Amino acid sequence: MKARIIGTGSALPPKVVTNDDLAKIVDTNDAWIRERTGIQERRVSDAAVATSDLAALAAEKALKASGLKPEELELIIVCTCSPDMLFPSTACILQGSLKAVNAAAFDLSAACSGFNFGLTTAASFIESGKFKNILLVGADTLTKYLDWTDRSTCTLFGDGAGAVVLQATDREVGVLTSFMMAEGQLGPVLTMPGGGSRDPEEKNGRFIKMAGKEVFKFAVRVLETSIKKILESTGKTVEEIDLFIPHQANVRIIDHVSKKMGLPKEKVYVNLHKYGNTSAASVPIALDEALAEGRIKSGDLLILSGFGAGLTYGSNLVKWG
Ligand code: ACO
Repeated sequence: MKARIIGTGSALPPKVVTNDDLAKIVDTNDAWIRERTGIQERRVSDAAVATSDLAALAAEKALKASGLKPEELELIIVCTCSPDMLFPSTACILQGSLKAVNAAAFDLSAACSGFNFGLTTAASFIESGKFKNILLVGADTLTKYLDWTDRSTCTLFGDGAGAVVLQATDREVGVLTSFMMAEGQLGPVLTMPGGGSRDPEEKNGRFIKMAGKEVFKFAVRVLETSIKKILESTGKTVEEIDLFIPHQANVRIIDHVSKKMGLPKEKVYVNLHKYGNTSAASVPIALDEALAEGRIKSGDLLILSGFGAGLTYGSNLVKWG
Protein backbone atom coordinates (compact mmCIF):
# COMPACT_ATOMS: atom_id res chain seq x y z
CA MET A 1 0.00 0.00 0.00
CA LYS A 2 1.10 3.54 -0.77
CA ALA A 3 -0.32 6.86 0.46
CA ARG A 4 -1.52 9.00 -2.41
CA ILE A 5 -2.46 12.68 -2.13
CA ILE A 6 -6.01 13.00 -3.50
CA GLY A 7 -6.78 16.62 -2.51
CA THR A 8 -5.02 19.77 -1.36
CA GLY A 9 -6.16 23.09 0.10
CA SER A 10 -4.72 26.17 1.76
CA ALA A 11 -5.85 29.22 3.72
CA LEU A 12 -4.20 32.54 4.44
CA PRO A 13 -5.57 35.35 6.59
CA PRO A 14 -6.56 38.34 4.44
CA LYS A 15 -4.49 40.97 6.29
CA VAL A 16 -1.26 41.78 4.42
CA VAL A 17 1.69 43.31 6.30
CA THR A 18 4.43 44.65 4.02
CA ASN A 19 8.08 45.25 4.82
CA ASP A 20 7.35 48.98 4.72
CA ASP A 21 4.65 48.46 7.37
CA LEU A 22 7.24 46.80 9.62
CA ALA A 23 9.75 49.60 9.00
CA LYS A 24 7.27 51.87 10.79
CA ILE A 25 7.52 49.86 14.02
CA VAL A 26 11.12 48.52 14.09
CA ASP A 27 14.48 49.73 12.78
CA THR A 28 14.44 47.84 9.47
CA ASN A 29 13.76 48.53 5.80
CA ASP A 30 12.31 46.82 2.74
CA ALA A 31 15.72 46.46 1.04
CA TRP A 32 17.30 44.62 4.02
CA ILE A 33 14.42 42.17 4.42
CA ARG A 34 14.21 41.45 0.65
CA GLU A 35 17.96 40.99 0.24
CA ARG A 36 18.57 38.91 3.38
CA THR A 37 15.37 36.79 3.26
CA GLY A 38 13.45 37.25 -0.01
CA ILE A 39 10.30 38.16 1.94
CA GLN A 40 8.20 41.08 0.64
CA GLU A 41 5.03 40.68 2.69
CA ARG A 42 3.31 38.25 5.03
CA ARG A 43 -0.24 37.50 6.25
CA VAL A 44 -1.19 38.21 9.85
CA SER A 45 -4.32 36.79 11.48
CA ASP A 46 -6.67 38.87 13.61
CA ALA A 47 -6.64 38.40 17.38
CA ALA A 48 -9.87 36.38 17.28
CA VAL A 49 -8.50 33.87 14.72
CA ALA A 50 -6.80 30.76 16.09
CA THR A 51 -4.77 28.08 14.33
CA SER A 52 -7.75 25.69 14.10
CA ASP A 53 -9.76 28.35 12.21
CA LEU A 54 -7.16 28.49 9.42
CA ALA A 55 -6.74 24.70 9.59
CA ALA A 56 -10.50 24.25 9.08
CA LEU A 57 -10.56 26.48 5.98
CA ALA A 58 -7.63 24.62 4.40
CA ALA A 59 -9.08 21.22 5.39
CA GLU A 60 -12.50 21.98 3.88
CA LYS A 61 -10.85 22.88 0.55
CA ALA A 62 -8.69 19.74 0.59
CA LEU A 63 -11.71 17.57 1.39
CA LYS A 64 -13.70 19.16 -1.42
CA ALA A 65 -10.84 18.57 -3.87
CA SER A 66 -10.57 14.93 -2.71
CA GLY A 67 -14.27 14.18 -3.07
CA LEU A 68 -14.32 12.60 0.41
CA LYS A 69 -16.88 13.41 3.06
CA PRO A 70 -15.64 14.30 6.57
CA GLU A 71 -17.16 11.10 7.97
CA GLU A 72 -14.98 9.02 5.63
CA LEU A 73 -11.82 10.23 7.40
CA GLU A 74 -10.23 7.76 9.83
CA LEU A 75 -7.45 10.00 11.17
CA ILE A 76 -6.70 13.73 11.38
CA ILE A 77 -3.18 14.92 12.10
CA VAL A 78 -2.54 18.62 12.65
CA CYS A 79 1.11 19.62 12.53
CA THR A 80 1.52 22.80 14.53
CA CYS A 81 3.67 24.52 17.14
CA SER A 82 1.03 27.20 17.79
CA PRO A 83 -1.97 25.14 18.95
CA ASP A 84 -5.20 26.85 20.01
CA MET A 85 -4.42 25.71 23.58
CA LEU A 86 -2.33 23.03 25.34
CA PHE A 87 -5.32 20.71 25.26
CA PRO A 88 -7.53 19.60 23.64
CA SER A 89 -5.33 19.21 20.60
CA THR A 90 -5.94 21.43 17.59
CA ALA A 91 -6.61 18.22 15.64
CA CYS A 92 -9.48 17.32 18.01
CA ILE A 93 -10.89 20.85 17.75
CA LEU A 94 -10.74 20.49 13.96
CA GLN A 95 -12.29 17.00 14.07
CA GLY A 96 -15.20 18.50 16.01
CA SER A 97 -15.72 21.44 13.68
CA LEU A 98 -15.50 19.27 10.52
CA LYS A 99 -17.86 16.69 12.11
CA ALA A 100 -15.38 13.99 11.09
CA VAL A 101 -17.15 11.64 13.48
CA ASN A 102 -15.23 8.48 12.51
CA ALA A 103 -11.73 9.93 12.83
CA ALA A 104 -9.10 9.75 15.54
CA ALA A 105 -7.15 13.01 15.88
CA PHE A 106 -3.86 14.20 17.31
CA ASP A 107 -1.32 17.01 16.95
CA LEU A 108 2.25 16.55 15.82
CA SER A 109 4.89 18.96 17.10
CA ALA A 110 7.93 19.40 14.89
CA ALA A 111 7.73 23.16 14.18
CA CYS A 112 8.67 23.99 10.59
CA SER A 113 9.41 20.30 9.85
CA GLY A 114 5.90 19.44 11.01
CA PHE A 115 4.26 18.81 7.65
CA ASN A 116 7.07 16.55 6.45
CA PHE A 117 7.06 14.61 9.73
CA GLY A 118 3.26 14.42 9.43
CA LEU A 119 3.41 13.17 5.84
CA THR A 120 5.83 10.42 6.85
CA THR A 121 3.61 9.51 9.83
CA ALA A 122 0.39 9.48 7.81
CA ALA A 123 1.99 7.48 4.99
CA SER A 124 3.26 4.92 7.52
CA PHE A 125 -0.27 4.43 8.92
CA ILE A 126 -1.57 3.88 5.40
CA GLU A 127 1.30 1.58 4.36
CA SER A 128 0.72 -0.57 7.46
CA GLY A 129 -2.94 -1.01 6.49
CA LYS A 130 -4.16 0.68 9.67
CA PHE A 131 -6.02 3.54 7.93
CA LYS A 132 -7.16 4.27 4.38
CA ASN A 133 -8.19 7.95 4.48
CA ILE A 134 -6.22 10.56 6.43
CA LEU A 135 -6.45 14.33 6.63
CA LEU A 136 -3.07 15.95 7.24
CA VAL A 137 -2.87 19.66 8.04
CA GLY A 138 0.09 22.00 8.60
CA ALA A 139 -1.11 25.15 10.36
CA ASP A 140 0.58 27.86 12.38
CA THR A 141 -0.11 31.38 13.61
CA LEU A 142 3.38 32.30 14.76
CA THR A 143 2.73 36.04 14.41
CA LYS A 144 0.94 35.70 17.76
CA TYR A 145 4.29 34.72 19.30
CA LEU A 146 6.46 37.46 17.83
CA ASP A 147 8.19 40.18 19.78
CA TRP A 148 7.22 43.13 17.57
CA THR A 149 10.22 45.08 18.92
CA ASP A 150 12.73 42.41 17.75
CA ARG A 151 13.58 43.10 14.10
CA SER A 152 15.57 39.87 13.78
CA THR A 153 12.42 37.72 14.22
CA CYS A 154 9.31 39.86 13.62
CA THR A 155 10.26 40.37 9.97
CA LEU A 156 10.38 36.65 9.18
CA PHE A 157 7.10 34.95 10.05
CA GLY A 158 3.52 34.86 8.76
CA ASP A 159 0.34 32.85 9.43
CA GLY A 160 -1.35 30.20 7.28
CA ALA A 161 -2.57 26.64 6.85
CA GLY A 162 -2.24 23.94 4.21
CA ALA A 163 -3.94 20.56 4.06
CA VAL A 164 -3.82 17.32 2.10
CA VAL A 165 -6.09 14.28 2.04
CA LEU A 166 -4.18 11.00 1.74
CA GLN A 167 -5.70 7.76 0.53
CA ALA A 168 -4.43 4.19 0.28
CA THR A 169 -3.61 2.91 -3.19
CA ASP A 170 -2.02 -0.27 -4.49
CA ARG A 171 -0.33 1.67 -7.30
CA GLU A 172 3.33 2.77 -7.04
CA VAL A 173 2.42 6.46 -6.52
CA GLY A 174 2.22 8.86 -3.59
CA VAL A 175 4.83 8.89 -0.82
CA LEU A 176 7.62 6.65 -2.15
CA THR A 177 10.12 7.17 0.64
CA SER A 178 10.76 9.43 3.64
CA PHE A 179 13.54 10.62 5.87
CA MET A 180 13.20 12.35 9.24
CA MET A 181 15.75 13.32 11.88
CA ALA A 182 16.28 15.45 14.99
CA GLU A 183 19.31 17.18 16.52
CA GLY A 184 17.98 17.97 19.99
CA GLN A 185 21.33 19.22 21.26
CA LEU A 186 20.84 22.24 18.97
CA GLY A 187 17.36 22.95 20.39
CA PRO A 188 18.34 26.13 22.26
CA VAL A 189 19.04 28.04 19.03
CA LEU A 190 15.30 28.28 18.28
CA THR A 191 12.84 28.34 21.17
CA MET A 192 9.52 29.59 22.49
CA PRO A 193 10.31 29.04 26.17
CA GLY A 194 7.29 30.48 27.98
CA GLY A 195 3.98 28.75 28.61
CA GLY A 196 5.17 25.16 28.92
CA SER A 197 5.47 23.13 32.15
CA ARG A 198 8.98 24.51 32.81
CA ASP A 199 7.63 28.04 32.78
CA PRO A 200 3.83 28.08 33.08
CA GLU A 201 3.81 31.73 34.11
CA GLU A 202 5.79 32.73 31.00
CA LYS A 203 8.54 34.39 33.02
CA ASN A 204 10.87 33.79 30.08
CA GLY A 205 8.46 35.52 27.72
CA ARG A 206 6.00 34.11 25.22
CA PHE A 207 8.01 35.04 22.15
CA ILE A 208 10.11 33.22 19.57
CA LYS A 209 13.83 33.47 20.29
CA MET A 210 16.18 32.56 17.49
CA ALA A 211 19.91 32.59 16.82
CA GLY A 212 19.31 33.23 13.11
CA LYS A 213 22.85 32.53 11.89
CA GLU A 214 22.96 29.16 13.67
CA VAL A 215 19.60 28.14 12.20
CA PHE A 216 20.79 29.27 8.76
CA LYS A 217 23.94 27.09 8.96
CA PHE A 218 21.86 24.14 10.19
CA ALA A 219 19.30 24.61 7.42
CA VAL A 220 21.74 24.56 4.51
CA ARG A 221 23.53 21.53 5.96
CA VAL A 222 20.46 19.39 6.69
CA LEU A 223 18.44 20.24 3.59
CA GLU A 224 21.25 18.84 1.50
CA THR A 225 21.56 15.78 3.77
CA SER A 226 17.87 14.98 3.64
CA ILE A 227 17.63 15.33 -0.15
CA LYS A 228 20.63 13.02 -0.52
CA LYS A 229 19.10 10.44 1.86
CA ILE A 230 15.88 10.40 -0.16
CA LEU A 231 17.72 10.00 -3.45
CA GLU A 232 20.10 7.33 -2.10
CA SER A 233 17.30 5.20 -0.65
CA THR A 234 15.46 5.08 -3.97
CA GLY A 235 18.36 5.14 -6.43
CA LYS A 236 16.89 8.28 -8.03
CA THR A 237 19.05 11.10 -9.34
CA VAL A 238 18.59 14.87 -8.98
CA GLU A 239 17.89 15.00 -12.74
CA GLU A 240 14.80 12.82 -12.23
CA ILE A 241 13.24 15.30 -9.76
CA ASP A 242 10.56 17.49 -11.36
CA LEU A 243 9.88 19.86 -8.46
CA PHE A 244 11.56 20.61 -5.15
CA ILE A 245 9.22 22.15 -2.57
CA PRO A 246 11.33 23.23 0.40
CA HIS A 247 10.24 24.88 3.63
CA GLN A 248 9.83 28.57 2.83
CA ALA A 249 12.01 30.35 5.42
CA ASN A 250 14.68 32.24 3.51
CA VAL A 251 15.30 32.38 -0.25
CA ARG A 252 19.06 32.40 0.37
CA ILE A 253 18.79 28.99 2.08
CA ILE A 254 16.73 27.64 -0.84
CA ASP A 255 19.04 29.11 -3.52
CA HIS A 256 22.19 27.85 -1.79
CA VAL A 257 20.91 24.28 -1.44
CA SER A 258 19.35 24.15 -4.92
CA LYS A 259 22.62 25.30 -6.49
CA LYS A 260 24.70 22.85 -4.48
CA MET A 261 22.38 19.97 -5.45
CA GLY A 262 22.29 20.98 -9.12
CA LEU A 263 18.55 21.79 -9.11
CA PRO A 264 17.76 24.53 -11.66
CA LYS A 265 15.48 27.41 -10.59
CA GLU A 266 12.56 26.17 -12.69
CA LYS A 267 12.50 22.96 -10.61
CA VAL A 268 12.33 24.80 -7.28
CA TYR A 269 9.09 26.22 -5.91
CA VAL A 270 9.29 29.51 -4.01
CA ASN A 271 6.40 31.60 -2.68
CA LEU A 272 7.92 33.00 0.50
CA HIS A 273 7.97 36.53 -0.93
CA LYS A 274 4.17 36.57 -0.39
CA TYR A 275 3.85 34.83 2.96
CA GLY A 276 7.17 34.78 4.86
CA ASN A 277 7.81 31.72 7.01
CA THR A 278 4.45 30.09 7.83
CA SER A 279 6.15 27.23 9.73
CA ALA A 280 4.32 23.88 9.34
CA ALA A 281 1.99 25.45 6.77
CA SER A 282 4.66 26.51 4.29
CA VAL A 283 5.14 23.24 2.40
CA PRO A 284 1.42 22.32 2.01
CA ILE A 285 0.56 25.90 0.97
CA ALA A 286 3.37 25.76 -1.61
CA LEU A 287 2.17 22.34 -2.82
CA ASP A 288 -1.40 23.62 -3.20
CA GLU A 289 -0.25 26.72 -5.12
CA ALA A 290 2.16 24.78 -7.34
CA LEU A 291 -0.72 22.48 -8.32
CA ALA A 292 -3.06 25.41 -9.01
CA GLU A 293 -0.37 26.99 -11.22
CA GLY A 294 -0.02 23.79 -13.26
CA ARG A 295 3.55 23.19 -12.05
CA ILE A 296 2.77 19.54 -11.14
CA LYS A 297 1.49 16.87 -13.53
CA SER A 298 0.72 13.19 -13.18
CA GLY A 299 3.87 11.10 -12.89
CA ASP A 300 6.03 13.97 -11.61
CA LEU A 301 8.56 13.27 -8.87
CA LEU A 302 8.52 15.83 -6.05
CA ILE A 303 10.79 16.28 -3.06
CA LEU A 304 9.12 18.02 -0.11
CA SER A 305 11.54 19.13 2.62
CA GLY A 306 11.34 20.83 5.99
CA PHE A 307 13.64 21.99 8.78
CA GLY A 308 12.95 23.84 11.99
CA ALA A 309 12.85 24.00 15.76
CA GLY A 310 13.89 20.89 17.64
CA LEU A 311 16.06 21.12 15.72
CA THR A 312 14.36 18.82 13.23
CA TYR A 313 14.50 18.06 9.54
CA GLY A 314 12.95 15.70 7.02
CA SER A 315 11.97 15.04 3.41
CA ASN A 316 9.47 12.99 1.44
CA LEU A 317 9.73 11.77 -2.13
CA VAL A 318 6.28 11.90 -3.73
CA LYS A 319 5.26 10.55 -7.12
CA TRP A 320 2.22 12.52 -8.26
CA GLY A 321 -0.62 10.49 -9.64
N1 ACO B 1 16.50 44.80 9.47
C1 ACO B 1 17.69 45.42 9.43
N2 ACO B 1 18.78 44.92 10.01
C2 ACO B 1 18.68 43.74 10.63
C3 ACO B 1 17.47 43.02 10.69
C4 ACO B 1 16.36 43.61 10.09
N3 ACO B 1 15.15 43.01 10.08
N4 ACO B 1 17.67 41.88 11.37
C5 ACO B 1 18.96 41.86 11.71
N5 ACO B 1 19.57 42.98 11.28
C6 ACO B 1 20.96 43.39 11.43
C7 ACO B 1 21.62 42.73 12.60
O1 ACO B 1 21.37 43.42 13.80
C8 ACO B 1 23.07 42.76 12.20
O2 ACO B 1 23.58 44.06 12.48
P1 ACO B 1 25.09 44.24 13.04
O3 ACO B 1 25.96 43.71 11.96
O4 ACO B 1 25.15 45.70 13.24
O5 ACO B 1 25.13 43.43 14.30
C9 ACO B 1 23.02 42.59 10.69
O6 ACO B 1 21.69 42.94 10.29
C10 ACO B 1 23.30 41.19 10.24
O7 ACO B 1 22.50 40.30 11.03
P2 ACO B 1 22.58 38.76 10.88
O8 ACO B 1 21.71 38.09 11.90
O9 ACO B 1 24.02 38.35 10.80
O10 ACO B 1 21.90 38.60 9.43
P3 ACO B 1 21.80 37.33 8.53
O11 ACO B 1 22.31 37.62 7.21
O12 ACO B 1 22.28 36.09 9.24
O13 ACO B 1 20.22 37.18 8.38
C11 ACO B 1 18.35 35.95 9.20
C12 ACO B 1 19.41 36.99 9.50
C13 ACO B 1 17.48 36.46 8.08
C14 ACO B 1 17.51 35.69 10.45
C15 ACO B 1 19.01 34.63 8.73
O14 ACO B 1 20.04 34.29 9.63
C16 ACO B 1 18.05 33.48 8.63
O15 ACO B 1 17.18 33.46 7.77
N6 ACO B 1 18.23 32.44 9.46
C17 ACO B 1 17.40 31.25 9.34
C18 ACO B 1 16.07 31.43 10.00
C19 ACO B 1 15.19 30.24 9.66
O16 ACO B 1 15.30 29.66 8.60
N7 ACO B 1 14.31 29.76 10.54
C20 ACO B 1 13.52 28.61 10.13
C21 ACO B 1 13.07 27.81 11.21
S1 ACO B 1 11.77 28.61 12.00
C22 ACO B 1 10.90 27.46 12.97
O17 ACO B 1 11.18 26.28 13.01
C23 ACO B 1 9.82 27.98 13.86
